[in-house]
Amino acid sequence: MHPDIEKVLFTEEEVHQRVKELADQINRDYAGTEVVLVCILRGSYIFTADLSRYLTVPTTIDFMSVSSYGSGTVSTGAIQVKKDLSDDPAGKHLILVEDILDTGNTLFALKNLLLHRKAASIRICTLLNKPSRREKSINADYVGYEVPNSFVVGYGMDYNEHYRNLPFVGVLKPSVYGGE
Ligand code: XMP
Ligand code: MG
Repeated sequence: MHPDIEKVLFTEEEVHQRVKELADQINRDYAGTEVVLVCILRGSYIFTADLSRYLTVPTTIDFMSVSSYGSGTVSTGAIQVKKDLSDDPAGKHLILVEDILDTGNTLFALKNLLLHRKAASIRICTLLNKPSRREKSINADYVGYEVPNSFVVGYGMDYNEHYRNLPFVGVLKPSVYGGE
C-alpha cells in the first residue's frame, strides 16, 4: 500500500494474470499475422512491456505520445501528437495499447489518424475501461477490467507524473488532488 492510495483495485498478481489472458486472446486472434504493438505513452509503458512478453505471434513495438489530459484530471477533447511513431504504419496490423479508455476522445482521434495513414487493421487493447464516461462511439477489442469513475493510478498510470511505479492499480485519495 501507499499513504495516498484509498484502496487497491487490482493487485500485482491479479493484473499479471489478466494481462496474460489478454495476450492469450491476441495470440489466438492474430495467429499467422505479424502485429505492431503501439504503446501510447506514457501510461501504457508497463502494460505494453508485460503484454509483449506474453505474446507469441511475431511482434514489433512502436511508441506514440498524444495529449488529451494536461497535468490534471479533466479531458480537453482534442489530441495533440507529441511523439509520433518511428515506423510507417501503412499495411501493418496495429494494436493500440492504452492504459484507460475513458471519454474515448484520445483513441477515437488516434484511430482515425492511423487509418488515414493506411494501417491494414487497428484494434484497441486497454487495461481499464470506464464506459460510463464515454463521449465518442469507440470500444476496445481487448479490455482488462471495467472500472467505475474514480481516478486510478499505478501500473503505469499517474497523477501529476507520480505513482506510475506502483505495481498495483489503486484509487487515489481525493484529498491528494484537492477533493474532499
Ligand atoms: P480519453 O478521455 O481521451 O482519455 O479516453 C484517455 C486518457 O486519459 C487518461 N486517464 C487517466 N489517467 N487515471 C490516469 O492515470 C485515470 O483515472 C484516468 N482516466 C483517464 C489516460 O492517460 C488515458 O490515456
Ligand atoms: Mg495516458
